[in-house]
Amino acid sequence: MDGEFVPADYFRKLERREICRDGRPLEVDLGCGDGSFLLAMARHHPDRDFLGVERLLGRVRKVCKKLTRHHLGNARVLRLESRYVIEWLLPEAAVSRVHLLCPDPWPKARHHRRRLVQTEFLTAVRRVLVPGGEFLFMTDHEEYFRWTEDKIAVCGKFERLAWDDASFFYPKSDFQQLWESAGKSMWRLRCRKSEVRDGS
Ligand SMILES: C[S@@+](CC[C@H](N)C(=O)[O-])C[C@H]1O[C@@H](n2cnc3c(N)ncnc32)[C@H](O)[C@@H]1O
Repeated sequence: MDGEFVPADYFRKLERREICRDGRPLEVDLGCGDGSFLLAMARHHPDRDFLGVERLLGRVRKVCKKLTRHHLGNARVLRLESRYVIEWLLPEAAVSRVHLLCPDPWPKARHHRRRLVQTEFLTAVRRVLVPGGEFLFMTDHEEYFRWTEDKIAVCGKFERLAWDDASFFYPKSDFQQLWESAGKSMWRLRCRKSEVRDGS
């Protein structure tokens, strides 16, 4: 499919040049859903490259169609599980921003281990980020937000940054629009990879 990114080998780390044009910043949207956010970002930033990650084939197909229809050559979609992509596939210091928007909150305590945000995941996010790269997280679920704040604090290798509406261009994702139109508030967390000199 046009717009789909299919790794040559799923069992070796990608090289940056496979996912991104020379010298361009790369941004990754985990669980990109219908691709609203991905497309708006790609359109607004033709000088950056984008990789959406989505595990559902139907959604990947729809996003690919939209990318083709809008002639957006700077965004592609990878049909795979987000944790695998972050922990095993992406190379070190390759990504400028990792976006995790409206992820499944797995509200029941016995399901919390299924949440994407875990200590190992954050360690891997930090590894794939370039120096000064950012992790941006948004949810309507306060408890998942607090959970993520705690994990970030425990990880100790990120610096919290302010994030207000006027900070920079940040289009609303499909789910954000859905939740806000239902009267829900969004919880947002933005942090930067801090320069801890420990080799990680
Ligand atoms: C609640 S929707 C949010 C979609 C989009 N980020 C938004 O804000 O509109 C979550 C999306 O993440 C995808 N997803 C959930 N877990 C995933 C995982 N582990 N790896 C890849 N995609 C995942 C789902 O298929 C779904 O499209």
